[in-house]
Amino acid sequence: MKVKNILFSYQNLLKREIEKKKYFSFLRKIFNLILKVLLNLIKKLFSKNFKNLDKYYNRDLFEKSLDYLFIYFNTDKGKTFKMNDGQIINSHNYSPFYEKYFKRFKNEKINLLEIGSHEGKGLASFFFYFPFASLVGANINPLQMKYFSRRIEEIFIDVSSKSILKNFANYYKDRDFDIIIDDASHNLKDIIQTFPILFKKVKANGFYVIEDIDQFKAFPNLNPNSEIMTPLLILEKLINKQDFQSPYLDDKDKDYLKSNIKNIYIEKGSMRLEGHNVSDIVFIQKKDI
Ligand SMILES: C[S@@+](CC[C@H](N)C(=O)[O-])C[C@H]1O[C@@H](n2cnc3c(N)ncnc32)[C@H](O)[C@@H]1O
Repeated sequence: MKVKNILFSYQNLLKREIEKKKYFSFLRKIFNLILKVLLNLIKKLFSKNFKNLDKYYNRDLFEKSLDYLFIYFNTDKGKTFKMNDGQIINSHNYSPFYEKYFKRFKNEKINLLEIGSHEGKGLASFFFYFPFASLVGANINPLQMKYFSRRIEEIFIDVSSKSILKNFANYYKDRDFDIIIDDASHNLKDIIQTFPILFKKVKANGFYVIEDIDQFKAFPNLNPNSEIMTPLLILEKLINKQDFQSPYLDDKDKDYLKSNIKNIYIEKGSMRLEGHNVSDIVFIQKKDI
């Protein structure tokens, strides 16, 4: 982890504890976080569970399809996913859509940001699919990443906090992204409030992707206020330049999005949970300004 990113993550993790009025946790984290960063550094040097992709044994991976890579690194973006008990289940199967929209970036020197990077399995797949890309993995716990490289940055984000999202966008004020993927909390409010803040960080003609955009249908706790204006409905209103009310978007956000979205592509993968298909994914393309 870059020292600059450690400092940003440290400050913002602590700010978030204050924002949540968790003063005891704030005090605990002042010391715990330093310890965790040191431990993480040691693990990266000595543990077999942490993989330096710059020295990775299997160079053939640079030639593989995204679906092969998603299954190889066992991210739930692929056709199948191996559970902890070894059972193989049908997964989201987002690969055909990622291939369809992102093939044109394959050999470009792109910037890609994934929020909700978890252990970095998705990012490790993108590392091999986009051999010239610079990748950023942002997560509520950035120390979860098992894959690292000179081409991968890890950093803290909490998409449930608007002020943290704004700090994050400001931190990257000199860098815009060709691709931003939201695979974080899948909470309805978080998806909506993150979108206008990070869509501003997408380059002209670039893409903002929202995975599992309707997952709250299977897990109502992801939409605790039973909001009627879902992210998909909001996108439909935005592209048709229609008015609507959402507690998580103000008029400035709506105007910005209406005038900067070029196209919206809605796709459906194949994972079923609690009797619902939870694999709705949206690719939102920015105008070429
Ligand atoms: C479905 S996992 C992501 C899987 C990963 N993208 C991959 O391809 O393997 C979701 C991640 O979002 C993170 N997350 C949950 N709430 C979050 C929040 N409020 N802000 C940022 N990340 C969050 C979780 O810690 C978890 O690591």
